[in-house]
Amino acid sequence: MVIQKPRVFTPIECNGEISYIESLMCHKKVYVKSFGCQMNKLDTALVTSALEDAGFSFTPSVKEADVVLINTCSVRDHAEQRVLSHLGHLKHMKRSRPDLVVGVIGCMAQRLGDRLLEHEAVNIVCGPAEIPQISDFVAKAVQDRQKALAVTERIRHKGSQQQSQALEEFESVYGIENEQIPAQAFVRVMRGCNNFCSYCVVPYVRGPEVSRSPEAIIEQIRKLAEHGVKQVTLLGQRVNSYKYKHGGKIWSLADLLEAAGDIAGIEWLRFVTSYPSEEFFDQIIEVMAGSPKVCEYLHMPAQSGSDRILKAMNRNYTSRWYLELLERARQIVPEIAIAGDFIVGFPGESEEDFQATVNLLEKARYKNTFVFKYSPRPGTNSDKRLTDTVAAKVKQRRNVELLAVQERISDELSRQFLNREVKVLVEGLSKKPHLNMADAGDNPQLVARTAGDWIVVFNGPESLTGKFANVKIESASPLTLFGRPI
Ligand code: SAH
Ligand code: SF4
Ligand code: F3S
Repeated sequence: MVIQKPRVFTPIECNGEISYIESLMCHKKVYVKSFGCQMNKLDTALVTSALEDAGFSFTPSVKEADVVLINTCSVRDHAEQRVLSHLGHLKHMKRSRPDLVVGVIGCMAQRLGDRLLEHEAVNIVCGPAEIPQISDFVAKAVQDRQKALAVTERIRHKGSQQQSQALEEFESVYGIENEQIPAQAFVRVMRGCNNFCSYCVVPYVRGPEVSRSPEAIIEQIRKLAEHGVKQVTLLGQRVNSYKYKHGGKIWSLADLLEAAGDIAGIEWLRFVTSYPSEEFFDQIIEVMAGSPKVCEYLHMPAQSGSDRILKAMNRNYTSRWYLELLERARQIVPEIAIAGDFIVGFPGESEEDFQATVNLLEKARYKNTFVFKYSPRPGTNSDKRLTDTVAAKVKQRRNVELLAVQERISDELSRQFLNREVKVLVEGLSKKPHLNMADAGDNPQLVARTAGDWIVVFNGPESLTGKFANVKIESASPLTLFGRPI
C-alpha cells in the first residue's frame, strides 16, 4: 500500500498531440524481478509504486509483460551471473517481440553502466541514485524503444543538492508497506557506505554514507503506522553509525529508536545491519533493554575470526574485542538474539585462520549465520592488491563446515524454547508444508517470527496474518520452532 502519493501526469507529445503518461501507459504491463539485499528490495517497492502511479500495471508472468525491470546486486559474481543469464533469455525473447522494453536498475546498473547498455536485450540502465526518474525512462522507452543510461558519475562524490532532494522526495512520497508481508515496512535511515571493507563493492555502487533527517524518518514511520504497519525495520549498511545534527543535538540510532517507539501503532522496531563499533553501541543496546518495542535482535557480522584476515579486510577490530562487544550486549539484554555473516576463502586464508573463524563462531553463539564464499569484486582494494588464492573446493568445504557448526549451535539455542510461550508477528501462509507438526486440524500452517527473529510455524486461521499471536512451542529444529496458538 502506498501512502500519500500524488498522481503524476507527465505530458508526452504523441502524433502531434499532447497526451499524458498515465493515460497512455494504463494498458502496459510490467514484470519486476529483484535480486540483492533489503535495501534493494525497498528500492524495488519504491519503483513499483512510482510505475503504478504513472499508470502501469503489473504481471507475474514475463511472457505477458510489455516491460521487464530487473533490480540487480553486485555483491558477489554469482549475483551478477544470474542477471546476465536472465538477460540472455530476454535477448531471445526480444527477437520475436522487439517491442519488449528491458530495464536494468540497481547496483549492477551503476557498476557496469554503458557496458550493460550494449547488451542486445537492454533498453534502460539506471543506477540506485537515479531511480526517481524511472517512470519517465520507462514511458519514453515504451514510446521510442531507444536506449537510455542514467548512472551517477563520480559516485564517491557527495551527490548534487538536486539529486539528494529528488531521492529524499521519492523516498518519502513512496514510503511503503511491505506488500509481501502485511503490517511490516522497511524504512531507510541511511544511504551508501563509507566503510570500505576491502572485499566490498557497496561503497562504489551506493556512494557515500548519508543519514536521512530524523524528521523525515519519523514522519514516514508515523504515516506507515496510520496505515496499519506494526513493525518497522530501519535500514542502513552500517545502521548503528546513523548520525544527524538536528534541533541543537546529534541524533543517533538510539534517539531514532526512542522517537519511533513513541509512535502509536508501531509495536516492533528492528534495525539492520550493525557494524562492530564502540560508537553509540551501549546507548543502542540500552534502548533495546528499556523499550518494549525494540526487538531483542542484533545482526552484527564478524566476517572472520582471524585477526590477520580481519586486518586485510579493513574491519578495524580483533576477534577478542568483537566477542567482548557481544558479551556487553548480552549483559544489557540477556535475551538478545545475535546473527552474523562470514566470508570464507578470503585471499590468504589458511587452515589456521579458518579455525580461528570456527572458534569465534563457537563462542559467539549466534542464532543464525550467513556464510559466503569470497568473490573478488573489480575495483575493490582486496581485488586490486590480493590474489584470490583459496581454491573453490576449499571455499566450499569451509562453507559447509562453518554452517554445520552453526547448525549445532542453532539447534541447542532453539531447544531452549521448548514448552515456552512466545509472542509472534504472523507473516502469512507457510510456503512449504511442514510434515512434523502434530494435529494439523482444519487450519493452515502459518509462518511467524518472534522479536528475536526466530521463525515459528503453527496452525491457525489465515486471518491472523499481520497480527500478533502467542504460541506455545512444542518442537524445534535448528532454524524453525513449531507450536500451537494459545
Ligand atoms: N553492510 C552490511 C552488508 C553488506 S553485504 C554489513 O556490513 O554487514 C552482505 C554480506 O555479503 C556481507 O556481510 C559479507 O559477508 C558478504 N560480502 C560482501 N562482499 C563480499 C564478497 N566480495 N565476497 C563474498 N561475500 C561478500
Ligand atoms: Fe560493505 Fe563493509 Fe560497508 Fe558493509 S560496512 S556495506 S561490508 S563496506
Ligand atoms: Fe545490496 Fe547487493 Fe547493492 S547487497 S547494496 S544490492 S550490491
